[in-house]
Amino acid sequence: MMKATARAHTNIALVKYWGKKDPTLMLPQTDSLSLTLDRFYTTTSVEFDPTSAADQIQIDQAPAAPNVAQRVSQFLDLVRPQGCFARVASVNNVPMAAGLASSASAFAALAAAASWAQGLHPSRTELSRLARRGSGSATRSIFGGLVEWHAGHDDQSSFAEPIQEHVDFGLEMLAILLDTRQKKIGSRRGMQHVVATSPYYPTWREVVAHDMAAMKLAIAAQDIDQIGHLAQTNALRMHALNLAADPGFTYFNAATLKAMETIDHLRETGVSCYYTMDAGPNVKVIYDRRDRETILTALTPQFGADHLVVAKPGPGVEKLTDE
Ligand code: DP6
Repeated sequence: MMKATARAHTNIALVKYWGKKDPTLMLPQTDSLSLTLDRFYTTTSVEFDPTSAADQIQIDQAPAAPNVAQRVSQFLDLVRPQGCFARVASVNNVPMAAGLASSASAFAALAAAASWAQGLHPSRTELSRLARRGSGSATRSIFGGLVEWHAGHDDQSSFAEPIQEHVDFGLEMLAILLDTRQKKIGSRRGMQHVVATSPYYPTWREVVAHDMAAMKLAIAAQDIDQIGHLAQTNALRMHALNLAADPGFTYFNAATLKAMETIDHLRETGVSCYYTMDAGPNVKVIYDRRDRETILTALTPQFGADHLVVAKPGPGVEKLTDE
């Protein structure tokens, strides 16, 4: 059989990855830590066809844009049987490229489907290393729940590992969808510009080292208030790198700032909730599931129920059966 289908879920970093030290091997500057979510995922089929003359790549039932197709083909070059092209069909249950980490679920699913389609049985560590070559954050989407990505120093040593695959306490995330259009500055370009020009970058490495240790302690203590506090501070410091770059830039828009203010205000009234943002304007709220209804009630009048998506901890990459 030369065909396999895999499903992988997105993850949102609680301690962010923002910068590479090796863009070819995709080695990050620092460790990072994330939560895989159940609500957003990508399902990808890969079929190798020895008679085909080129890769055929469909995303959400349409031919992939040339730049996306090229990125997928270059990734397939790492795993394909010699000279064998593939048919790839990928369906996203994620608003693409809006800071909801579609590349994480996409390359985790692609890494698994491309391997399984050849009858290979890589370990999840091996899949994590392979997914990394497609997109850094995809390294973590091989695993479910709370996941740590060890930065490492070469291809072998840079992979993710679960901290708690089945999250057994009330940690939950709610996405506030403010703008689901393509982001203006891709994360790859944004982080490269920051590493090259942001004077705060050396401090960021120290921030992450501290936050990784503190976050693991907070997870072990199941202290959601502390997890949220650390995640919010870490996200703001990541975004401060962007403002301090030359030229400076930001992923926030007016609605992002309004949402941040709303969450801060809600917390001041006694509801434990925090936010995090990635390479896009959308805001993710971190809270204990027992406060879900209170938070939804507070946010619905401002953002509308359609723009609020509750996500629970989700699973690692899964094999789907092909007919
Ligand atoms: C802000 O994984 O999208 O979401 O490795 O260049 O594909 P590439 O970048 P990507 O960057 C994710 C950045 C982030 C933080 C994170 O997920 O840790």
